[in-house]
Amino acid sequence: MLILGIETTCDETAAAVVRDGREVLSSVVGSQIELHTKFGGVVPEIAARAHLENINVLIAEALEQAGLGALGQARQAGAKLDGIAVAHAPGLIGCLLVGVAAAKALAFAWDKPLIPINHVQAHLYSVMLQDDRTDTTAWQPPEFPALGLVISGGHSSLYHVTAFDQLQRIGSTHDDAVGEAFDKVAAILQLGYPGGPLIDTLAQQGDEHAINFPLSMLEKDSLDFSFSGIKTSVLYFVNGKQGRERDASVMTLQQKADVAASFQRAAATMLIEKLRRAAARYPAKSIMVGGGVSANSVIRRRLHQLGQELGMPVYIPPLRFCTDNAAMTAGLGYPLMKAGKIAGLDLEAIATV
Ligand code: KG4
Ligand code: ZN
Repeated sequence: MLILGIETTCDETAAAVVRDGREVLSSVVGSQIELHTKFGGVVPEIAARAHLENINVLIAEALEQAGLGALGQARQAGAKLDGIAVAHAPGLIGCLLVGVAAAKALAFAWDKPLIPINHVQAHLYSVMLQDDRTDTTAWQPPEFPALGLVISGGHSSLYHVTAFDQLQRIGSTHDDAVGEAFDKVAAILQLGYPGGPLIDTLAQQGDEHAINFPLSMLEKDSLDFSFSGIKTSVLYFVNGKQGRERDASVMTLQQKADVAASFQRAAATMLIEKLRRAAARYPAKSIMVGGGVSANSVIRRRLHQLGQELGMPVYIPPLRFCTDNAAMTAGLGYPLMKAGKIAGLDLEAIATV
């Protein structure tokens, strides 16, 4: 079964074709980073306009790269598809509307089923996508029930997962998402945007025990997260009391690397400890993690260590499927379509769920 996926929830315009929920025939991602860098974050209105400019070309590219037809022959390519999956929630409303309108138009024109996808569920589904380097003979899909952790620029949530579209949220953030904290710490260190990958790289030269930033673990049995405290601690450490005495321009690269590594260790510890608590409270046979922050090298290492400690397999997507992409959207479309979870052309974009 061939499904076209469309993703426009935030600042990546993406289209992909996936066979049977696992084999990625194409995955095209148009990043808007350059447009938003000068503002230090995503500007919703600019993002929506950029989606509109790029979406048709990216869909045509995804169809072509999947071998379904040359550019400009979208009609013939469309005929070979079995369905069109679109991320319709949650996200920036103006951005979601572009993807949903494109998907509806194609579903109508090509007379194909329209499959509504929840972006957060799709992040967890990304563990199912085939990595080019994976030895397919050894790979086994994750067993349910599972613990699911979605860590990105917009989400830091824990789930008890009984199927890819049946998630019970058991923890979420009280304030910032973890990716937001990475981005803000990078801004404080004057590294650039988006901050996650820059912190990850710089931290490799730093001492992760140089500074003991306080961990916000909340109440003893809480599965929720809080990342605003550590962000403020980094601000005061770098900029001095009240955050206004000096700034990162007076720091050496080594000092910045020490802050990056120490922050990263603290953020990873908060995530790992909440997963450990969840594993003690909920029955689970596996752990699955998705979202942009799951690309972080230290978090990946610590997750695998936790899995060994708990005797539970840990599934983390290949790097290219951690950040927003449409392969995860098309992938999740497969089990949903088989289960008959199809929408009409009145499908709505929903900003928060
Ligand atoms: O999943 P994603 O592409 O978009 C959302 O759904 O939010 O995640 C983007 C977030 C950004 O905050 C970015 O800084 C972070 O993921 N990120 C990372 C890394 N790569 C991306 N954070 C830490 N380490 C990384 N290597
Ligand atoms: Zn995302």
